[in-house]
Amino acid sequence: MSRVALVTGGTRGIGAAISMALKNAGYRVAATYAGNEEKARAFHEETGIAVYRWDVTDYDACGAGISKVENDIGPVEILVNNAGITRDAMFHKMTAQQWHEVVSTNLTGLFNMTHQVWSGMRDRNFGRVINISSINGQKGQMGQANYSAAKAGDIGFTKALAQEGAIKNITVNAICPGYIGTEMVLAVPEKVLNEKIIPQIPVGRLGQPDEVARCVVFLAADDAGFITGSTITANGGQFFV
Ligand code: CAA
Repeated sequence: MSRVALVTGGTRGIGAAISMALKNAGYRVAATYAGNEEKARAFHEETGIAVYRWDVTDYDACGAGISKVENDIGPVEILVNNAGITRDAMFHKMTAQQWHEVVSTNLTGLFNMTHQVWSGMRDRNFGRVINISSINGQKGQMGQANYSAAKAGDIGFTKALAQEGAIKNITVNAICPGYIGTEMVLAVPEKVLNEKIIPQIPVGRLGQPDEVARCVVFLAADDAGFITGSTITANGGQFFV
């Protein structure tokens, strides 16, 4: 039987491309969403991928949701922590709420999800954890002190956990997308996007969700077992680590 992959935020944007790419690569896929029922239903109808609603900031909801996925489809062997939000504001205007929402989703969400599947992966002596970080966790971004902090935290989490998982054949890797043409990026003011961001991308365009999804498929594979603790960048040449 094919392996089971769970993709958080897997019904829209980069997450939807990841869910589809994993399905096309032969995995049994479950995708979570936080609230956009309409998009999730349309995604399910279009792709046949099972969708589940829960909030990654809620530890108990993650546990209950993962149990349901495991009962329906099977043990989660590949976890893609993709769910993420932005609450951009210059730091002098940023509210505590904007800080906490982003850190809870984009960083604590990784703990809430990964902690629930970790013991099972250890028991089965196999696992793939793939964390979607960001170029802005690597280089920092004005207007994103919250997001940059959380996404940099995702990379530290990846490196620490990779060391713990290695002996149990669990790899933990991060992917750092650059600016990809999703709703999240298109929410940036048009003037900022056209005058400040796109000119900084050497390939001269936004990336496409599929260009991130292919990195996930690469890391998820059974024969990717020697790749762990790494960060793959897919940013059109905008930033080199
Ligand atoms: N790069 C360079 N300059 C930027 C910038 C950016 N990303 N964002 C803002 N600026 C500049 C503005 O152009 C402006 O400069 P000028 O006065 O010279 O024109 C200055 O900073 C102040 O910006 P605003 O006038 O827009 O100030 P504001 O308080 O109204 O809004 C903001 C500030 C909310 C940060 C808004 O500018 C914004 O949303 N910027 C985009 C921030 C960003 O890059 N977010 C990434 C979202 S995509 C994502 O996060 C996915 C991923 O992983 C890559």
